[in-house]
Amino acid sequence: MTQRTATRDDLDAIMDLERAAFPTDAWSRAAMAAELASPHGRYLVDEEDGRVVGYGGVRAVRGASDADIQTIALDPHVRGTGRGRALLRALLAEARERGAREMFLEVRADNPVASGLYLSEGFVEIARRPRYYQPDDVDAIIMQRSLTERPQDGAAVAAHDAREPLASAENVPTAGEESR
Ligand SMILES: CC(C)(COP(=O)(O)OP(=O)(O)OC[C@H]1O[C@@H](n2cnc3c(N)ncnc32)[C@H](O)[C@@H]1OP(=O)(O)O)[C@@H](O)C(=O)NCCC(=O)NCCS
Repeated sequence: MTQRTATRDDLDAIMDLERAAFPTDAWSRAAMAAELASPHGRYLVDEEDGRVVGYGGVRAVRGASDADIQTIALDPHVRGTGRGRALLRALLAEARERGAREMFLEVRADNPVASGLYLSEGFVEIARRPRYYQPDDVDAIIMQRSLTERPQDGAAVAAHDAREPLASAENVPTAGEESR
């Protein structure tokens, strides 16, 4: 498992993974290129034997308290071996380094694997966007976690936040494309 910052040269490999992971709502090549070039976030790739097998991105504008996990996807052949969790943790660390205090993300309601990962990393559901993902007509679950608590405190903090949401769906920043 080798993580490094994604560059424009990784765009072809990332788009291959993107289309395989999100067959009905893949981001466009132009949107992904803009994401990779943005100074307001960071994308990582995960390599195995010199081949890109995963990627993930975070949007975290310096000076802003909120950040967003934009996307994470792994080659189907390497899923379930801890790489997704490692990418997520690296993105959380990047957002923290940029000064963010709260992390948000959106996940499809029909994606229990990704939801399981996020829940186990301390995220809690704070809102739903009905029928957000089209054409599949699937709800988006909006999740949040603190970046200022120690990771092992995540579950306890999550239980508290679930009773007293800190943010509403209207306040959650969105990407140019549907974030996930
Ligand atoms: C979601 C995804 C990024 C997770 O990455 P991964 O490397 O497969 O996951 P990990 O091996 O790090 O596992 C992390 C957690 O995910 C969940 N998970 C992973 N594989 C799972 C499976 N087959 N069934 C149920 N839960 C699973 C578990 O909660 C797991 O924790 P555990 O190992 O302690 O049980 C990856 O499966 C993927 O690329 N999926 C397709 C694209 C996608 O849905 N991206 C997320 C968009 S929001």
